Amino acid sequence: MKYLYIIGIMVFIIACTKDQVPEPLYPLDVPIGFPQPETPVDNELTIARVELGKRLFFDPILSRDSTISCGTCHLPEKIFTDGEKVSIGIENRKGFRNAPTLANVAYQTSLLMEGGVPSLEVQVIAPIEDVNEMDFDALQVVKRLKRHPIYIELAQRAYDREPDLFVLTRSIAAYERTLLSGNSKYDQHQYQGKPNILTTAEKRGLDLFFSDKTQCSTCHEGHNFTDGDFYNIGLYTNYEDAGKARATALGSDIGRFKTPTLRNVALTAPYMHDGSLNSLEEVVEHFNAGGQVHPNKNGLIKPLNLTDQDKADLVSFLKTLTDSSFMQKHQ
Ligand code: HEC
Ligand code: HEC
Repeated sequence: MKYLYIIGIMVFIIACTKDQVPEPLYPLDVPIGFPQPETPVDNELTIARVELGKRLFFDPILSRDSTISCGTCHLPEKIFTDGEKVSIGIENRKGFRNAPTLANVAYQTSLLMEGGVPSLEVQVIAPIEDVNEMDFDALQVVKRLKRHPIYIELAQRAYDREPDLFVLTRSIAAYERTLLSGNSKYDQHQYQGKPNILTTAEKRGLDLFFSDKTQCSTCHEGHNFTDGDFYNIGLYTNYEDAGKARATALGSDIGRFKTPTLRNVALTAPYMHDGSLNSLEEVVEHFNAGGQVHPNKNGLIKPLNLTDQDKADLVSFLKTLTDSSFMQKHQ
């Protein structure tokens, strides 16, 4: 139901598209070693669009009782996560998933943990209308925005039109595309010509991460440490959250979730789709043990026979993915 509705909205939004005047462009600081993120033709990044999107992202006006903003669950100081096991929305309602980071979300090829949403523009509608998040109606949000002279002015400047669904979804997506993180110790080692910056433990951890022994990098691959694909990693024998099967209704998709990025992972605890693991040590132990029995479990998830030293080294490596300049930039 939710998906049909989102697709309906998407068609409406595309139908509203009109030519834009995309100037002046936003000076996107793409990290060394990262590709230029793709932007839709009707939503080139401009300073005015990003500014409007940022304001909306942190404005609780988007929720029914004006208490919750996107930034309530995606806090800049926690790399746009919230530190909760599962997110808490309007009237303290509990969701059922852990808030993922939005750093480098511009590179995600599909959104949400089952990948049911194709673009950042479309995704904006989901939390606004989710009963456990903002419990509101995107058209009502637009009505509210039209009552604020500042939003009328910013929408004019950004998209040359009044606040509407087009402006709401495009501007927030534009802001999210500016959240690029790629200046960690690992990046300095890998892309910025500082081979001696890693300690020997971190270097051993890096080698293990990219080794045939652990195969971590088969799924957590590329500059954003994700292949964008979906796997069952044997977290449970019986999954309460069906994962990708929620979107496809296929038994073979039960318990399959999108590979998360590992960037800044030391700052985004707790872990997994339901926040069930509290520390990186617990995560590494999960992969080392090989997970629970499940017919959909991926073949790479099996006992790894790591030593205590190996496990500690892997954790040291994961901590090199922290980019402290990102936090300073996006506070
Ligand atoms: C009540 C907490 C909460 C609020 C409010 C909230 N989010 Fe989220 N967000 C989450 C959770 C939890 C998920 C994971 C949901 C899932 O995968 O089904 C998520 C997922 C996302 C994703 C997908 C990331 C990915 O890698 O797939 C994006 C993008 C996002 N949120 C942006 C926003 C924006 C924009 C807003 C405001 C319009 C917002 N969120 C409001 C909790 C929240
Ligand atoms: C078969 C693909 C695959 C392999 C191999 C794999 N992972 Fe993952 N990893 C995933 C998926 C999928 C999740 C999310 C599962 C969930 O939410 O239920 C995940 C979650 C994680 C998380 C938690 C991230 C977060 O934000 O919640 C960390 C940390 C992690 N993996 C590290 C590793 C390490 C270290 C290795 C190697 C020992 C490894 N992974 C091997 C697919 C894989």
